[in-house]
Amino acid sequence: MDKNQLEDLLGKMTLDEKISQMMQLSPIFFKGTEMQGEITGPMEELNLTESIIQNAGSVLGSSSKKDMLQIQEEHMKTNRLGIPLVFMADIIHGHKTIFPIPLALGASFSEEVASEMARVSALEATASGHHVTFSPMVDLVRDPRWGRVMESTGEDPHLNSRLGAAMVRGYQGGNLQEDYTRLAACVKHFAAYGAPQGGREYHTVDMSKREFYQNYLPAYQAALEAGAKMVMTSFNILEGVPATMNKWLNRDVLRQELGFSGVLISDWGAVKEVINHGTAADTKEAAKGALLAGVDLEMMTECFITNLKELVETGEVSEGLLDEAVMRMLVLKEELGLFKDPYRGLKRDSRSGDILSDENRQVARNVAHESAVLLKNNANILPLAFNQKIALIGPLADSQDVLGGWVVYGEQKDAVSMADAFSGKFSATEIVSTDYEQISENVLQEAETAAKNADVVVLCVGEKSEWSGEAASLATIRLPEAQYELAKRVAKANSAVVTVLFNGRPLDIHDLVDHSEAVLDVFFPGTEAGNAIFDLLTGEVNPSGKLSMTIPQTTGQIPIFYNELRTGRPKTAQNAGEKYLSQYLDIPNEPLFPFGFGLSYTNFVLSEMEVADEIALADTLHVKVTVQNTGECAGSEVIQVYLQDITASVSRPLKELKAFQKVRLEPGEKTTLSFALTKEDFSFYLPDLTVVQEAGLHRVFIGTSSVDVKSFEVRVVR
Ligand code: BGC
Repeated sequence: MDKNQLEDLLGKMTLDEKISQMMQLSPIFFKGTEMQGEITGPMEELNLTESIIQNAGSVLGSSSKKDMLQIQEEHMKTNRLGIPLVFMADIIHGHKTIFPIPLALGASFSEEVASEMARVSALEATASGHHVTFSPMVDLVRDPRWGRVMESTGEDPHLNSRLGAAMVRGYQGGNLQEDYTRLAACVKHFAAYGAPQGGREYHTVDMSKREFYQNYLPAYQAALEAGAKMVMTSFNILEGVPATMNKWLNRDVLRQELGFSGVLISDWGAVKEVINHGTAADTKEAAKGALLAGVDLEMMTECFITNLKELVETGEVSEGLLDEAVMRMLVLKEELGLFKDPYRGLKRDSRSGDILSDENRQVARNVAHESAVLLKNNANILPLAFNQKIALIGPLADSQDVLGGWVVYGEQKDAVSMADAFSGKFSATEIVSTDYEQISENVLQEAETAAKNADVVVLCVGEKSEWSGEAASLATIRLPEAQYELAKRVAKANSAVVTVLFNGRPLDIHDLVDHSEAVLDVFFPGTEAGNAIFDLLTGEVNPSGKLSMTIPQTTGQIPIFYNELRTGRPKTAQNAGEKYLSQYLDIPNEPLFPFGFGLSYTNFVLSEMEVADEIALADTLHVKVTVQNTGECAGSEVIQVYLQDITASVSRPLKELKAFQKVRLEPGEKTTLSFALTKEDFSFYLPDLTVVQEAGLHRVFIGTSSVDVKSFEVRVVR
């Protein structure tokens, strides 16, 4: 349908029909369905009449294709104007084939990896009948106490922007309407949801507008520029007003400044929650606030459905605002081709072969290869040799809980555990499986004996999936003490310990690192976990991940992130030991592992770095560097380019990532990489929110982490 036909359709809709289009329901509200649907928030009685359900615009999180088909068929029979439903769901890092969690995708530092994850997720989800995914989540995160850091690609605006945009491209492809293997993407959570005070879920967000524009907004913007069709509001307040009724945020910033014209959906129950925030007295004020702020679709509460009619009839809100919202819904349905084929993904060929196929599993395995971060490898204890006797010890030695906390449709039964992948491959493999929280003396002794009998211990420790994700904040980012005790006891029995860490967030891992010769951080690797880890530990694949989020020394160091601002009293190598410095008395200022860090089994040498010492304002700075693999095995390295504005009108961060490239090199091979830093890379926000590039001295850093860098001075002249 073209714009005029959609306008005609809108013109035929009654007020009730319009309002129903602005409501999203879970499938449990639809008659005759067997399933429960996806429940990711509180459920309440919604008091819906049959006609409301018949006219509803969209469905959230259906798990059965049969039910979805039945719901759509029933709907098409009863909906007066034949407006199809759109099915939306949380396909966050895979549908049935589960990929590493987004924080791990961040560590891949690879747009190709992020986009492949999204492409395969879309392939599977559309074969199951879904149309829209509530992904990517591009919230900047700096506080690992917050459980949802697992769902973000990390702490850096540049990295989040590039990977968020890559995911949008992977989900949506080039022709959403015709290509039935693609999903529409919904960017979330708008905005700044990743900055709750104290890392406590659903808590207050308060930051300057400058900080918001400088660091938090870019990734949403990049995802929208990549063409994302939808945006979801966040639960938090910003500038004192809940995002879901924040006019400045949604109308001024999102619609006007970022030019977004797609559907804005509330998060689960977020419209009604503005009452709890204390910015609306009742559901009527909540509905009015959300509509005025530009929300088009309300998820799982009834404020719009029960109040919009009266609000329009009394003239408190204009019907024109509803028309705009409904038109956006109709356009989305048209863009998905649903008017032409309401059974997109539900009828025609079954495409069941697209789900959990060997090919998809192979992509998931590759993505897991690219996402694991080697944190330590003393004396090259890794890779393991097949003639060694190994002992797999710990809660994750034989566990399929490797998918992560944001998996709605994937199943643990399809996941490859460490035991599955390692058994029978070495000269001997003993497995001691333990609990996560309570490890008895007997089990500890069993572990010690297994360790003594082995050449190398592979200690498999970490979190359960449910310990990170939504509503999973921690006051202390430690594993259960029993796991540290296990590490200590095992290391005493045999110091050749390789720790494989499964985690949804950066953790306090001092005690693990101290008791291990090698540490591989695999996050939650997904369905192919065991196989991918096997490839990495045996050297079949060389680790190449780089941390997308700083690992602090301890909880008390939070928030800690590499692109922090400077202080008037910095601690330096020269003044260490003095008192009146910005420092802790009990721990260093440096994190345990910095952003961008990750080791390899080979060595890379950077040389022939070329950076001009002077450029004019607005000119592009060209940077060149030669990378050579000087080791004995092939591998990939991420070359990172950071920038610092040494003196500016506002204090600028110590370093900011502005460019990166991941290159794969055979032993001995070398290549020259070029980077271009543009005017935008040098520009920043002033207190009045204007964006400037200033003349003066800058520093360019080139290296393989945020710390392992070589620096060059560049003068920007008028
Ligand atoms: C989460 C969203 C999610 C929605 C729908 C909410 O609780 O915050 O990220 O998309 O539920 O399941």
